[in-house]
Amino acid sequence: MTAKRDVSLTVNGVAYSASVEPRMTLVDLLRGELGLTGTHVGCEHGVCGACTILLNGQAVRSCIMLAVQADGAELMTVEGLSEDGQLHPIQQAFVGQRGLQCGFCTPGFLMSVYELLQHNPAPGDDEIKEALGGELCRCTGYQSILRSVRDAAARLRGEVPAAATEGEA
Ligand code: FES
Ligand code: FES
Repeated sequence: MTAKRDVSLTVNGVAYSASVEPRMTLVDLLRGELGLTGTHVGCEHGVCGACTILLNGQAVRSCIMLAVQADGAELMTVEGLSEDGQLHPIQQAFVGQRGLQCGFCTPGFLMSVYELLQHNPAPGDDEIKEALGGELCRCTGYQSILRSVRDAAARLRGEVPAAATEGEA
């Protein structure tokens, strides 16, 4: 049996320590050990993006990282978006513009959008598509997601959000 390793990290501003198998993935640490089940597991091969989180401000796929690689890091997961019971403007935009159906992919999308809008408050459609190229949604036609990102950017810029458009696929 492999000796466990101690890992200390900060997630959503809270400090955690855990003793983990060296082979444990970061998403298994988040979900199984820390109880942060908002981050989803889809393909477990780094393809679908459902497990996307921010590590030291950068979007990473937590299914293909080891927990020990996050030792000393600052992480942000989807649970860190809302504040005082209020949904983050990106979440509000996804609700308002119907950017989700089953919602399984949504945590990964939200974290990638968060990273994008941190660096680029007014992305064009091509930039949004590029930033979300690694996030797969099995349910939607992506148009509502695109609309949600435009709306999220407008909300974060303090502009009046666009109304949800009925019937647009
Ligand atoms: S579960 Fe990590 S990329 Fe699909
Ligand atoms: S909303 Fe179902 S996978 Fe994206």
